[in-house]
Amino acid sequence: MSIHASASPNAFVPDESNTRLLRDAFGRFATGVTIVTAATEDGVAAITANSFSSVSLSPPLVLWSPDKASRRFSYFEQATSYAVHVLSAEQDDLCWAVARDAFALNDHNLSLNAEGVPVLENCLARFECTKTAVYEGGDHVIMLGQVNRAQMREEGDPLAFYKGQVGRFTAD
Ligand SMILES: Cc1cc2nc3c(=O)[nH]c(=O)nc-3n(C[C@H](O)[C@H](O)[C@H](O)COP(=O)(O)O)c2cc1C
Repeated sequence: MSIHASASPNAFVPDESNTRLLRDAFGRFATGVTIVTAATEDGVAAITANSFSSVSLSPPLVLWSPDKASRRFSYFEQATSYAVHVLSAEQDDLCWAVARDAFALNDHNLSLNAEGVPVLENCLARFECTKTAVYEGGDHVIMLGQVNRAQMREEGDPLAFYKGQVGRFTAD
């Protein structure tokens, strides 16, 4: 049996001219949505991120990938600790507010954890991390963090991200 590449009309070789297509193809991978927070000298920096992934149970490690071109990149590059919040289906407004504005959480009166990282309550899960490694990843970097503390809610549906849109995911 032979397998022919490019059989599909939607097949393409990623290059500089079709990054939009590649973004759309990446968008076929449904993910959850997180907000990553860090304390900075300018206040609470936050970013909406769907690049989050669990990595290791022992030691407990997670990753996410900030865009080097983001205006908020330097805040997360400098932060040694941060918190990753997994959003619930009701938190779509928060998802877009933080996507628009790095300091959208500044007036939210967040509590600080042991490392001084501002943390959100009422998310589906929260991972409070210390950065352990940063790997080159093209126009992004891959940030690996050790999970110092984790918490989760028993109930609630996740906010899902698919084809550029967010919505409730219900498992049944
Ligand atoms: C659902 C969703 C997921 C996102 N995931 C990431 C991500 O993983 N990494 C990233 O750098 N930006 C991600 N972004 C973009 C940022 O949240 C934010 O919109 C962007 O950094 C804005 O540009 P600025 O930082 O230059 O203001 C995502 C946005 C949305 C809405």
